[in-house]
Amino acid sequence: MNEEQRKQQAQINQDQSVDRKSSQDKPLSEKTSEDFAHYFQSTYEPPNINKARKRYREEVEVHYDFEIPEDMRSIGEGRKFLIQTYGCQMNEHDTEIMAGILTNMGYEATMTPDDADIVLLNTCAIRENAENRVFGEIGHLKSLKRERPDLIIGVCGCMSQQESVVNRIMEKHQHVDLIFGTHNIHRLPNLVKEAMFSKAQVVEVWSKEGDIIENLPKVRHGKIKAWVNIMYGCDKFCTYCIVPMTRGKERSRRPEDIIQEVRHLAAEGYKEITLLGQNVNANGKDFEDIDYTLANLMDDMRKIDIPRVRFTTSHPRDFDDELINVLAKGGNLLDHIHLPVQSGSSHILRKMNRKYTREDYLELVRKIKAAIPNVTLTTDIIVGFPNETDEQFEETMTLMEEVGFEAAYTFIYSPREGTPAAAQKDDIPMDVKKERLQRLNKLVNDQSAESMESYLGKTVKVLVEGTSKKDDTVLAGYTEKNKVVNFKGPKDIIGEIVDVKITETRTWSLNGELVEETAEVTEV
Ligand code: 5AD
Ligand code: SF4
Repeated sequence: MNEEQRKQQAQINQDQSVDRKSSQDKPLSEKTSEDFAHYFQSTYEPPNINKARKRYREEVEVHYDFEIPEDMRSIGEGRKFLIQTYGCQMNEHDTEIMAGILTNMGYEATMTPDDADIVLLNTCAIRENAENRVFGEIGHLKSLKRERPDLIIGVCGCMSQQESVVNRIMEKHQHVDLIFGTHNIHRLPNLVKEAMFSKAQVVEVWSKEGDIIENLPKVRHGKIKAWVNIMYGCDKFCTYCIVPMTRGKERSRRPEDIIQEVRHLAAEGYKEITLLGQNVNANGKDFEDIDYTLANLMDDMRKIDIPRVRFTTSHPRDFDDELINVLAKGGNLLDHIHLPVQSGSSHILRKMNRKYTREDYLELVRKIKAAIPNVTLTTDIIVGFPNETDEQFEETMTLMEEVGFEAAYTFIYSPREGTPAAAQKDDIPMDVKKERLQRLNKLVNDQSAESMESYLGKTVKVLVEGTSKKDDTVLAGYTEKNKVVNFKGPKDIIGEIVDVKITETRTWSLNGELVEETAEVTEV
């Protein structure tokens, strides 16, 4: 896009934001593409960090009137859908919403592309290998489309928010019928209809972040654990991360809507909820009318009769004392905190724009451990950030030990087009990065195994989720600290929280025996 086009684009956005007011009164289901034109960008812009940083605080509207338009409520009858999900829990949860919408349009779920009438790829843009896998899958689907031209193939999620990806699909993968972005999910009924009747590729990717749409239908994955969005987007702008561009600015859901959703889930018998957001600690910071933060929300969660409440993902910078104090009250707030550190070097942290130093992070950990003595900490780490020296990597290794993380998701830095870090020259060879990752993973494994050993002979509370993937006669579930436990027991305790005595420990899982009294108690 050249400068002139950019100016024109800016003009269109501004002009159309005036129209917006006139369409505000319409129910969501009656709105047409025109009402949303101010969101729609027909000329794609590459993710632009400077522009994204300047996104102004336009008030976020919350819509409560989502409805599937009447003429689309049975459009899927006799037809099936398949959604393949890549990436984080946020994407998994978006898939639950899309499944909810499609089910409400009459579609039925299937596990195999061969009987699907719609295949959606809900994609992740966070690292290059995630993208490569999606392009591989798009390629595989080509022969299916040739055999069954009526099949609708759609690409959605974070990748479709990127200009380069959309262009590549438009140029090289004409068998894809539909491309839509993360802010367009509630438009799925209209998009499917358009894809059914249009000869051309249907592309709808709003560059401006959407409003918050409540009351979207959901088909949840299981009846035991549920995800609940508490906020969308991210304004942190870590220099390696594409998320602020693909998911838009931070928008918090209203507390009353979150609380109502969690209460419903509790009433339906769910045992565990995970509050979701890219940076959950920013929850409430965008409210102008109320003073309400994640600490208040967690305190409200304690009052709901649901046994387990988790939240992810936290940013250390926003993790405040009030939140620590509330978490220390315990109850259904679990003493496991996932707190991505990314690097142990203050220098690299500054280059990553993480807005804290190694010392700040350690001080936060000290405060958390003082308030919650039994806390388990897990983290995310990136190795091989551009020009990371051996010494700087060693600082990550020592931090890993100093904090005593019991698990860590570790990644080799992957340059993402449009992010500031991707523009940096990088002198560190891939071999060196791989070697560092191996060393780090060994340490992560050792620390995990060590933490597991401390469970030997102890009794833990396990939320039984189902049977083990490897052996149908073995039950499997998670402890409060998110450790997998395998044990033998009757299938009717699936969905219950039971006591299990640990008899054997592995690096990433525990084996145990059901403590019989609990089974009797839960049967009453
Ligand atoms: N390269 C490697 N890892 C990344 N992450 C985010 N962006 C990148 C990238 N460009 C990691 C971070 C984050 C996790 C979800 O993914 O560790 O916490
Ligand atoms: Fe990305 Fe997380 Fe940083 Fe936000 S806080 S920019 S989602 S790594």
